[in-house]
Amino acid sequence: MPDSSHILAAVAWPYASGPRHIGHAAAYVPSDVFSRYQRMAGNKVLMVSGTDEHGTPITVAADKAGTSTQEIADRYNRLIVEDLHSLGLSYDLFTRTTTTNHYSVVQEIFTGLLANGYVFPRTTLGAISPSTGRTLPDRYIEGTCPICGYDSARGDQCDNCGNQLDATDLIDPRSRINGEKPKFVESEQYFLDLPAFAEVLGTYLQSRDSWRPNVLKFSLNLLDDLKPRAITRDLDWGVPVPLEGWRDRPDKKLYVWFDAVVGYLSASIEWARRTGDPDAWRPFWQSEQARGYYFMGKDNIVFHAEIWPAMLLGYSGIGARGGTPGPLGALDRPYEVVSSEFLTMEGKQFSSSRGVVIEIRDLLSRYDADALRYYLSVAGPETQDTDFTWAEFRRRNNDELADSWGNLVNRSISLAARNFRAVPAAGALSDADATLLAASKAAFGSVGELLGRSRQKAAIGEVMKIVGDANRYISDQAPWTLPKTGRAEDLERMGTILNVALQVVDDCKTLLTPFLPASSDTVHRLLGGAGEPGEWAPMPEVVEVDEPTAIGSPSYPVITGDYTGGGRWESTPLPVGRSLSAPTPLFRKLDASIVDDELARLAGGG
Ligand code: MF3
Ligand code: ZN
Repeated sequence: MPDSSHILAAVAWPYASGPRHIGHAAAYVPSDVFSRYQRMAGNKVLMVSGTDEHGTPITVAADKAGTSTQEIADRYNRLIVEDLHSLGLSYDLFTRTTTTNHYSVVQEIFTGLLANGYVFPRTTLGAISPSTGRTLPDRYIEGTCPICGYDSARGDQCDNCGNQLDATDLIDPRSRINGEKPKFVESEQYFLDLPAFAEVLGTYLQSRDSWRPNVLKFSLNLLDDLKPRAITRDLDWGVPVPLEGWRDRPDKKLYVWFDAVVGYLSASIEWARRTGDPDAWRPFWQSEQARGYYFMGKDNIVFHAEIWPAMLLGYSGIGARGGTPGPLGALDRPYEVVSSEFLTMEGKQFSSSRGVVIEIRDLLSRYDADALRYYLSVAGPETQDTDFTWAEFRRRNNDELADSWGNLVNRSISLAARNFRAVPAAGALSDADATLLAASKAAFGSVGELLGRSRQKAAIGEVMKIVGDANRYISDQAPWTLPKTGRAEDLERMGTILNVALQVVDDCKTLLTPFLPASSDTVHRLLGGAGEPGEWAPMPEVVEVDEPTAIGSPSYPVITGDYTGGGRWESTPLPVGRSLSAPTPLFRKLDASIVDDELARLAGGG
């Protein structure tokens, strides 16, 4: 890894349509593990995201709750900010898509694409409700799928066969609001000319050999069927279309996905303004050394590997129609799209409406953030769908986190504290001593390499292997038997063993910091590392920003933080003589009863 490259960690934006669950956390936690590692390795990281607040997900939620879209967006923006903060996700900026800054950056991208000829108007058929005269977005229409015959396909896609649909394709279309048959009328929309990017997208995607194979294969397949995509909608909730005669129309807005992906850029620009250097975003977007890593669940791949790259190319004046970069300058495409697969819940799809759900906030009210982060890191859906079960959550927490890692920390520090009250000096090293020390030192290279490629399961697996080796080493060496002999050389040997054990605990603490920031920070202090909580593994904070949003909220909360002073990705010799005291257990063990309690809670629908 070259020194101090600029790394953009772009994390998918959660819809502000309800509380987010641990299936969502499975896509977000890897972005934090990655960003924390990159900062520790000395790179400059900009980690951005925010809540996605436009489109039908929000209008549907507002209709259901009988309240306004602004009320829903404000409510869930605040709640999601709190939840992601509690998970310790170290965003440089977590904002929202309803800021005035976001609106103007989105409009800027639209205008640039239009100027280069990659956006054009076309007349299509749109649905309206005959009884109210209101437009019916695709998601509000239901009917029989023309491809598989499923009778509850939606106007935007069929959940049974997964195909993208147009509402006009549905057989027997009906409104999901009142069951009536929609009327289709001509309506003008703007389209993104995806076929004009066929060649550049092909060259771009074919050179992405570092991507996970499943993501790359999926993305390359998309190239076979490039059609113009509508980027405006007949909807009253979204970013206005920046055109004469359109800007003020209440019934025409930009499509939510068109605005949301621009969030990565607008959040970077908002972040730069807050640092006091309005151009600070540029090295993350416009430099040879810059690399953008995008984190999401697999249902988002099309928007990040096809639509967003096409938008960036078109704005930069690259594509079959040529053009020149817009006022912001040419913008980099994603360097890597890091997508997770899906997490299921005790064998079922997550479903808020059917109560098959564990909300992040609910889980964190009973368990520590690091217990969830650990589970998602070792057993999450990195390259295939995986199932969350409470029995497995408990087993991983108890056997691996508490009994293996927690116990290693505990026994080595308490033995040293009891017998030496400090980090003892090491004498001559035995083969066993040297082998263990060498293994933990070597891990900085191998685990770092895996983390740089987002192979996080393999990475944490390597660290936990060293933790296991260290536990075996202590049991084999049985340092506790040595003081009983009363011989000076035995006491010295005990000192050597504990010096080695403590050094390996310190190394493992560093290696685990990206995964388990809060407990690693505690271990740092248990080992006598000075400082306040958070100095080793800096934590995000929530700050209320006194700026009105574009939808009329007087102020809004953001997640941000100063992560510059934290620990480094290297083995540092523990200073001999540093005082130690007996620790309290790092992790809580979970009683067998939690499994039944949680399953009962699930069955009860919350
Ligand atoms: N809100 C979308 C989802 O939850 C993700 C949007 S990612 C962005 O599936 F790039 F568009 F912001
Ligand atoms: Zn179908």
